[in-house]
Amino acid sequence: MKRALIAVLGAGALTAGLMAGGATTASAHDGHHKHKAPRTLQDAAARTGRDIGAAATVVHMGEAAYRATLDREFNQLTPENEMKWETTEPAPGQFDFAPADELVRHAKKERMRVHGHTLVWHSQLAPWVNEITDRDELLSVMRRHIATVAGHYRGQLRSWDVVNEAFDDSPQAARRATIFQNVIGDEYLEEAFKAARRADRKAELCYNDYNIDGINPKSDAVYAMVKNFKRRGVPIDCVGMQGHLILGQVPSDIRQNMERFARLGVNVYVTELDIRMPTPATPEKLAAQAADYTKVVSACVAVRRCRGVTLWGVTDKYSWVPDFFPGEGAALVFDENYAKKPAYFASLAALKSGRRH
Ligand code: XIL
Repeated sequence: MKRALIAVLGAGALTAGLMAGGATTASAHDGHHKHKAPRTLQDAAARTGRDIGAAATVVHMGEAAYRATLDREFNQLTPENEMKWETTEPAPGQFDFAPADELVRHAKKERMRVHGHTLVWHSQLAPWVNEITDRDELLSVMRRHIATVAGHYRGQLRSWDVVNEAFDDSPQAARRATIFQNVIGDEYLEEAFKAARRADRKAELCYNDYNIDGINPKSDAVYAMVKNFKRRGVPIDCVGMQGHLILGQVPSDIRQNMERFARLGVNVYVTELDIRMPTPATPEKLAAQAADYTKVVSACVAVRRCRGVTLWGVTDKYSWVPDFFPGEGAALVFDENYAKKPAYFASLAALKSGRRH
């Protein structure tokens, strides 16, 4: 089904992308080589029983090359912005699922699993929520939001980022002083997970954060929280390590970190992988980036409980990095022209080497 669709959509842009990337043998003959070496990221990931995903946005779904690359390479999709509070509940009790529904429908058609992002986060939050000062009111607003959004997608999502970025970057890795923390207190976190479980008993419930890829004070704080939740029966099933990394600075203990979370009985996902560099990209930097991608992807496929890696975007053309880190970019595995970068081939090779979990 996927292959047929690509044949229809694909031709021009897709072929151009493949040629530019040097994969000159991938072609209409793919169908005859089902048992040969995997030719796409998703074929390779599927053989290890894992997901390889990309953040996607409705903004670019009308672009044939964007859609074709997404559909060809990935078996999992994360809405880049469409499930965030400012979009799903812009005014109290007024819910809008239209943009996210479009992505979920697309994913279903393409048989991609969907990771929901995100139910509770201080950023891209509807401004009205920040005005609430009463504890009971904010707790019920948060519960209603989770019940309604997770309820809308009940049974349709692989997993949810229930809470995103709840710890700060101080040496103590304290709870981030968000409206939820300030008004509700520490308990908001477990209340969010309980509400998510009530709304969707099938989706895995994740805690998600950045700078928790390696072993450090922040990942220690998350580890302690997960351990505590597990001991007390608070429903949590997975930890998302965002993986917004810097060229040459991939933590050397990613695998050990994944393993310690796995031992607590949760799955691990790399949820927002990108590895940024000072632009412009050079062959040297692209080679170093490929080695960095190898480190992350091989760590995941070496850990039984690491079930997937999601790239934070399909192409460098639309990555969030240049907008948020001026002077940096080229962080993904397809360049601005959808050509495969060295990081693509490194990721493919790392996935191929993975054992089935
Ligand atoms: C980013 C999106 O990619 C941008 O389009 C948006 O303008 C800002 O948010 N951590 C997260 C993601 O959890 O939601 C962020 O996504 C990137 C950092």
